[in-house]
Amino acid sequence: MTTKWQSDADYLLLIEDLMETVDVQRLESFVHHKVTNRLAHSLSVSYRSYRWAKRLNLDTRAIARAGLLHDLFFYEGCDKHEVGGKGHNYEHPRIALANALKITELSDKEQDIIVKHMFGTTLAAPKYAESFIVSLIDKQCSIMEVTGGLKDLLVNKYHTATSFFSRRLAYSAANYNNQNQSYMDIDE
Ligand SMILES: [Fe+2]
Ligand SMILES: [Fe+2]
Repeated sequence: MTTKWQSDADYLLLIEDLMETVDVQRLESFVHHKVTNRLAHSLSVSYRSYRWAKRLNLDTRAIARAGLLHDLFFYEGCDKHEVGGKGHNYEHPRIALANALKITELSDKEQDIIVKHMFGTTLAAPKYAESFIVSLIDKQCSIMEVTGGLKDLLVNKYHTATSFFSRRLAYSAANYNNQNQSYMDIDE
């Protein structure tokens, strides 16, 4: 995830009240996309979207806040098949909106950003440019998280494999020396 948000005072001002809530902090305890936690993912989506909103002269407040709240749901991804209704992709933005409304007021634009963030896997089109950006950035972050996790997995496997082979080599070398030693011992 990006960490630049931590030193961006303008951005922090927009989300600080939300970051102080128990519900937003709770997101950290949920695994997201198998490799990160839901708070880290939400901050990535929020901050990357915020920077696009700044560049494009869009509503930075709406995009930062709704971006942070877009996945405000409290079940693990592995339990998504139990969500019922029309399924996880359709239901979790609506659950996130209901949860978000319990902790803050939301404009029509902020509500649209949250509900439409799964556009592409759900049919309803975003009403605002900010909603479209968050739905794109959400997909970008998801891909980056999954490929980053895959890379870490491969690197770890590589290190495990190489340390296994170096241990085997060290073991063989030690055995070879021991055998030589024994052989020498017998000769003596
Ligand atoms: Fe989502
Ligand atoms: Fe998301």
